[in-house]
Amino acid sequence: MTNSIDLLTLRQPDDWHLHLRDGSILKSVLGHTTRVFRRAIVMPNILPPIKTIVAAEAYRQRIIAAIPSKDLFTPLMTAYLTDDFCSKELEDGYNKGVFFAAKLYPANSTTNSSEGVTSIDAIHSLLETMERIDMPLLIHGESTESHIDIFDREAVFIDRCLIPLLSRYPNLRVVLEHITTEQAVRFVEASSSRLAATITPHHLHINRNAMFSGGLRSDFYCLPVAKRERHRLALRRAATSGNPRFFLGTDSAPHLRAAKQSSCGCAGIFNAPYALESYLDVFEAEDALDRLEAFASEFGAAFYGLPLNKSLITLEKCTHTIRSSFQVELEDKCQENLVPFHSGENLRWRVLRKD
Ligand code: NCD
Ligand code: ZN
Repeated sequence: MTNSIDLLTLRQPDDWHLHLRDGSILKSVLGHTTRVFRRAIVMPNILPPIKTIVAAEAYRQRIIAAIPSKDLFTPLMTAYLTDDFCSKELEDGYNKGVFFAAKLYPANSTTNSSEGVTSIDAIHSLLETMERIDMPLLIHGESTESHIDIFDREAVFIDRCLIPLLSRYPNLRVVLEHITTEQAVRFVEASSSRLAATITPHHLHINRNAMFSGGLRSDFYCLPVAKRERHRLALRRAATSGNPRFFLGTDSAPHLRAAKQSSCGCAGIFNAPYALESYLDVFEAEDALDRLEAFASEFGAAFYGLPLNKSLITLEKCTHTIRSSFQVELEDKCQENLVPFHSGENLRWRVLRKD
């Protein structure tokens, strides 16, 4: 990484947790990611979810067809685990290089997760297969029992599901996605090198107050939900610590403005347009600019056993105000808006070029 006072060049980063959606939204959002990121792990919770090799390959082709011609980008596809997912399909998909990893959504934990897994026991043979073939398991780590407070769901999941899962499958490679708590940070720090975690830009910037500042602010509602300030600070320490088991995963999760602002607003923050700038802002504030490249461009690839990107990206220091929304043209020609994270705020850096 090279750094002058107002230019910063680093190895091109990858996004290890991304929602691209499908159809017209896919076409509208993809370029924001490919402008900056060389690869991304694409989440399978579209409708219908990605449960077969054929569906994953077709979705991959739709993504590839939508990549802007100026960008080089590799989508890494995931399988959506269900109680009745067939072990052979999972293994074949992994061996063919169609499934890069599999995603475990506890049933009803988040957007489009109603077909998710009802218990760890229900997918025993899938986990055994994944452990044997060294296929990564990506986990949405939240308990879904209705009596568990929403702010405790990640910590409870770690105690009741993740600890037993890791002890039952000690050689399984696991990523605890979009962690939000100091319990998750401490747990990853204390675990074996088979466990890593992604951290989003929004959980580094906001605590739970953001959802209630001056009124109900659905733009800041995502899952796992942002927690208390002390958890945000623990995440900032983890991301900037240089520990290779914490790496970048934006969890950019676009929902049209109307879906965010309905009486039952969707969970998800659309951060793709300024994700790298958003992380950079945090690393600069934490006096850890020298650790950004490893977090954004190296630790994830190393965990997944992929080569590092050779291309570079340069950002310039230049305070700019983030636009309030992006327009999406839907299939029926209606226009709708997507509101980006940091909408209306200032960020101090912006992407200048890729080499
Ligand atoms: C994601 C989505 O909208 O697909 N939402 C979110 O709040 N993060 C799903 C997820 O990752 O939980
Ligand atoms: Zn996600």
